[in-house]
Amino acid sequence: MVKVGIIGLGTVGEAVVKNLEKNREIIKARAGKEIKVIKGVIREPNKYTHLNIPLSTDYKDVTRNPEIDIVVELIGGVDKAFEIVSDALKHKKAVVTANKALLAYHRFELQKLASTPFEYEASVAGGIPVIKALRDGLSANHILEIKGIINGTCNYILSEMKKGRDYKEVLKEAQEKGYAEADPTFDVGGFDAAHKLLILASIAYNIDAKPEDILIEGIENINLTDIEFAKEFGYEIKLLGIAKKRDSEIELRVHPTLIKQQEMISKVEGVMNAVSVIGDVVGETMYYGPGAGGDATASAVISDIVEIARGNSNPMLGFKIPLEIEKCTLIKPDNIVSKYYLRIAVKDELGVLEKIAHILAQNNISIESFLQKPRDGYVKLLFSTHKAVEKDIKKAIKTIEKLNFVIKPINYIRIEE
Ligand SMILES: NC(=O)c1ccc[n+]([C@@H]2O[C@H](COP(=O)([O-])OP(=O)(O)OC[C@H]3O[C@@H](n4cnc5c(N)ncnc54)[C@H](OP(=O)(O)O)[C@@H]3O)[C@@H](O)[C@H]2O)c1
Repeated sequence: MVKVGIIGLGTVGEAVVKNLEKNREIIKARAGKEIKVIKGVIREPNKYTHLNIPLSTDYKDVTRNPEIDIVVELIGGVDKAFEIVSDALKHKKAVVTANKALLAYHRFELQKLASTPFEYEASVAGGIPVIKALRDGLSANHILEIKGIINGTCNYILSEMKKGRDYKEVLKEAQEKGYAEADPTFDVGGFDAAHKLLILASIAYNIDAKPEDILIEGIENINLTDIEFAKEFGYEIKLLGIAKKRDSEIELRVHPTLIKQQEMISKVEGVMNAVSVIGDVVGETMYYGPGAGGDATASAVISDIVEIARGNSNPMLGFKIPLEIEKCTLIKPDNIVSKYYLRIAVKDELGVLEKIAHILAQNNISIESFLQKPRDGYVKLLFSTHKAVEKDIKKAIKTIEKLNFVIKPINYIRIEE
């Protein structure tokens, strides 16, 4: 029998307990052993009397319990979780976690500390087994590119906005439905997606970047004009986490992105997640499914428990010897090269277009397409550009925003083709 202690019995923890019991027989057959939760740790025991497991409020009752083989950390957050997981590893417990925030900051330290199995399938894209796909299934490949819709809240909001609904109205509804937190910044600001992207990127490229090192933009400034433009030019707007390898440099970024409607990933709607991974041997692969929710996430957590119960011990980040050939540097956000879409609100005056085109040209930016949308008393100019360097776009925007006919801050979205 494999004995498990779970620290955190909220949405995911409770679903793990429930599904281990519900599918006990098939899980036992697959693991080759019975799996039993022998202790749970929470802060307020009164809330958990309905669960039929012994409870404690001291995590050491699990991390230092000689009877326990696997410690499952499901409390979330960074510092306390790091303390708990480190303690478990120091006491030679195998660890399973769903905690992307913890891994976004501490995955390399934990890898060093871990002499026992350490699994974290649920930390990226919830129920989709993308970690195992990338780390194990694609181990023959150099990873050329990863593109992911890895935040269901943002994808839900953008999908609803396509129906002509306003951002604020949809966000409120997402909060009522429980898709978005009371403070939604973490999701809509792109930070949650960034945590997940960093985990994927370290498996693909052995790159030890922190959220502060990469470009992160959220969906807060997307409006219905952008959605209209996207439709008109055959794009969808998605919040994407993107990791790309260019020679010995790695590009990591999270931002709203215009992608062509015919791309598979652009068809992912609502709260669903999807990750596309391009390997040099296999070509493009795609993983789709529910990125959150108690049961979906528990499915991934239990798969990790089964993996460990079988006696498999995978290298945590997918390499037993550091990926020296892949050892790459991170491209600074200002040096990213992309195509761009610009939304510029201007007074309806003569010569406006010419002045803007001139400034763009001065900054090495050439226009690919252009659309003009008259509004009450002003005009919205919508441009798409050919490939340009991020710092040139920012410089051009700063200059254009100073022109007296420009009446609002300029919005821009990167185009991925
Ligand atoms: N929910 C999802 O759909 C989802 C999807 C993918 C990944 N995840 C990840 O899974 C983890 C758990 O998420 P969740 O949604 O299940 O969270 P949750 O519903 O908020 O539950 C958190 C649990 O942890 C306990 N807890 C918090 N701090 C603790 C501490 N210091 N000591 C002991 N227990 C503590 C809480 O107990 P009390 O109630 O007593 O405070 C509660 O039982 C997070 O890392 C999250 O990012 C969640």
